Amino acid sequence: MKILAIESSCDETAAAVVEDGRKVLSSVVASQVEEHRLYGGVVPEIASRRHAEAIVPVVSQALEQANLTLENIDALAVTYAPGLIGALLVGVNFAKGLSLSTGLPLVPVHHLRSHIASNYISNKKLKPPFLCLVVSGGHSHIVMVEDYTKMKIIGRTRDDAAGEAFDKAARTMGMPYPGGIELDKVAESGDPHAFKLPRPTVHDAPYDFSFSGLKTAVINLLHNSAQKGVELNKADVCASFRYAVVDCLCTNFLKAANDLNVEKLVIAGGVSANSLLRRTLSQECEKRGMKFYMPDKSLCGDNAAMVGAQGYYEYLAGKTAGADLNAYATMSIEE
Ligand code: KG4
Ligand code: ZN
Repeated sequence: MKILAIESSCDETAAAVVEDGRKVLSSVVASQVEEHRLYGGVVPEIASRRHAEAIVPVVSQALEQANLTLENIDALAVTYAPGLIGALLVGVNFAKGLSLSTGLPLVPVHHLRSHIASNYISNKKLKPPFLCLVVSGGHSHIVMVEDYTKMKIIGRTRDDAAGEAFDKAARTMGMPYPGGIELDKVAESGDPHAFKLPRPTVHDAPYDFSFSGLKTAVINLLHNSAQKGVELNKADVCASFRYAVVDCLCTNFLKAANDLNVEKLVIAGGVSANSLLRRTLSQECEKRGMKFYMPDKSLCGDNAAMVGAQGYYEYLAGKTAGADLNAYATMSIEE
């Protein structure tokens, strides 16, 4: 079954053709990041406008690269929640129009579910059940993936998402948006023990995260030293901050896996590209005799191939929508 998938939840306009949920026949991503960088973050109004301009050429390119026409496609999948509402609406309305004109079934896909599904592309044998750490710019969840379309949230952030914390710390150090990627690179040459940073926990909720205090701690460290005219080693600050975030993520994730008796661990979302997170969980899972899966780095960020992968399983579960499909800025992954 060939699915043409569309993603426009944030600042990437993407389209892909995916066969049977696992095989990517084409994947096109048009990023707007250069433009948003001028403002230090995503400007929703600009995002919507750029999606509207890019959607037709991006979808055409995805079909061309797969050497297919719409006649060869069996279903359409589109990200409908959560995300920037104006951005989501561009993809949803385009997909609805395409579905109406071609008669193809339309499958609505939850953005975080699609991040999880990027693992089905990178790890062909991976099947639920497994425990997944979903870490992106907007979310940090520990999710029990009971089946392809049945999920339960085990833990979540109470304030900032991990990606957001990385980006804000990076911005304070003068790195361009989205700074998480550069902070990760700079951290590679630093000492993770150079600065002591807190490991915030949430009372009575051992699987929940809290990153806002940690973010404030590193920002205070930077501001205080700047006021005193002391120059800190940037690589050491990056390494210490990255170590603190990854430590919080891994501690709760591994505790949840242990308590729930799960032996298959998976990571997903933009932050799953983080080198230390990937290394630490690979090593910890190997030590504990657990299986560990992660998406290829190329599939960690927003793309439509993952939407096509999850769309396939949503379709098999009977989830299709009509012309009344709407987009939603927020929606639980459990719905
Ligand atoms: O999943 P994603 O592409 O978009 C959302 O759905 O939010 O995640 C983007 C986030 C950004 O905050 C970005 O800085 C972060 O993922 N990110 C990283 C790395 N690569 C991307 N954070 C830490 N280390 C990385 N290597
Ligand atoms: Zn995302």
